[in-house]
Amino acid sequence: MQIRSAIPTITVKSMGPPTCWPLSPALLRPPQRLFQRRGFQDNLTKQWFRRSLMVSPAGFIFATCQQGAETALKFEILRESPNLRFAYSRPGFVTFKHADDSPFPDDFQIRSVFARVLGVSLGKSLSANMTERAAGFWRHLEGRTVEGLHVFPRDRSEPGHRGYEPGLTHESMASETILRSAENCPLSLRLDQSQQSVSSLRPPDPVNGPLIADAIIVDSQEWWIGLHRARRPISSWPGGFFPKINLPDRIVSRVFFKMHESLVWAGFPLEPGQTVAEIGCSPGGASQALLAAGLKVVGIDPAEVDPLISENPNFRHIRKRSKDVSRREFNGVDWLTCDINLPPSYTLDTVESVVMHSKVRIRGLILTLKLIDWSLAAEIPAFVERVRRWGYSRIRVRQLHHNRQEVCLVAR
Ligand SMILES: C[S@@+](CC[C@H](N)C(=O)[O-])C[C@H]1O[C@@H](n2cnc3c(N)ncnc32)[C@H](O)[C@@H]1O
Repeated sequence: MQIRSAIPTITVKSMGPPTCWPLSPALLRPPQRLFQRRGFQDNLTKQWFRRSLMVSPAGFIFATCQQGAETALKFEILRESPNLRFAYSRPGFVTFKHADDSPFPDDFQIRSVFARVLGVSLGKSLSANMTERAAGFWRHLEGRTVEGLHVFPRDRSEPGHRGYEPGLTHESMASETILRSAENCPLSLRLDQSQQSVSSLRPPDPVNGPLIADAIIVDSQEWWIGLHRARRPISSWPGGFFPKINLPDRIVSRVFFKMHESLVWAGFPLEPGQTVAEIGCSPGGASQALLAAGLKVVGIDPAEVDPLISENPNFRHIRKRSKDVSRREFNGVDWLTCDINLPPSYTLDTVESVVMHSKVRIRGLILTLKLIDWSLAAEIPAFVERVRRWGYSRIRVRQLHHNRQEVCLVAR
C-alpha cells in the first residue's frame, strides 16, 4: 500500500491543556444505525466507542463544494441520509449533524456528487495570529492518530467568474508551512519530515487509506479542522483538487484538464490504440487529453477543431451534428465521451441513439451533464437510472474540480 508506507503512522501528542468538549451522554452514544446499516460487528462498535472516549467525538461533518453548488449538496446529502440535519454554511463550505446529536466515527463517509471533500468536523481554530491559529488547529486533534495533512481553501468565487479557478492558493500553501512548523505539529508531519501538499495519482488503499487531517481555510483568520480517510485517488488530493501534471507546450482549452481529471477518476482500463468517439469535440481540449492517453479519437462536431488536434494522425474529424453521423462510424469504437452545450436530456438522447444501436458496442461512457439550471441536480438519480437501462451497471456521478455548472457521469 504505497501511500500508507510513505506516510508513517503517528499519534498526535498533547502539547498543552486538553481541549475536549464536555461529553454529554448524547455525544457518547455511538451511531448504532450507521454501524448496523454497514453490517459492522459489535466488537468494532465497542472499539470505536472506547477510542472515542479518549478524544472529542465529532458531532458534525463538513463538505466543501463549488460555490453555487451548496443547495444541490444539501439537498443530496439530506435525501441520501435523512438522519442528518443541515447545521451551518458559507459559500463553498457546509456542515451537518445527526438529528439526535449522536457523534460520527472519525472515518465517516458518504457518497456525494457535489462534495469535493467530505469528512468529520472537529470545530474551528480562530485567531488573528497565524501561529496561534496553527497551534489551536493541532490541539483539536490531540489524542487522534493522523497520517497526513491537507490544507486547502474554500472556493472564493464561482468558477470562471472573472477568471477565478478553484484550487490551492498562495495563502493555503503559506498556511500549510505554518501548520507544519507549529511546535505541537506531530513529528512525522513537520516540514522537514514530509512533502508539502502531498498529492498522488496512485490509487490509495480502498479500505484502510490513511487518516488525513484537513485544515480548511474558510476565512483568512478562521481555519476549520476536519478528518477524512483517503481511500480513493480524489480523497488523497488536498481539497479534492486535481494535482499538477506535466503539461504539453500548448493546451488547446481548459477542457484538457477536465478530461484528464475525468480519465483518472473514471479509472477505465484504457489501452493505447483503442478508439474513443468524442461528441462535441471542438475546439479539441478533451481530444488533446485523449490523444495524450494513447487513444485514437473520432471527433464529432460541426465546428472547427484546432490544427494541433486535426493534424494529429490519430484524430479523425467528422464535421457534423451527431444525429447526422452514420451509426457505421461507431463500429469498432470502444469508449464514448460527450460534452455538448445543451441540457442533460439532450445529451442523453444523443448518446442513447448511439449506444442502443444494435451494431454498436461501447464499453464505457464519460458524459458531461450541463446543469443549465441548478434544479436539474435533483434529477441526477433519474439520469443514472436512464443510463442503467442502456445496460451499464457501474455508474458514478461527480462534480469534478474542473467542472463548471455541470457534473461528470461515468458508466461501464
Ligand atoms: C463545450 S463545447 C465542447 C468542448 C470540447 N469537448 C473541447 O474539449 O474543447 C460544446 C460543443 O458541442 C458541440 N455540439 C453541440 N451539439 C452537438 C451535436 N448534436 N453534435 C455534435 N456536436 C455538438 C458544439 O458545436 C460545441 O463545439
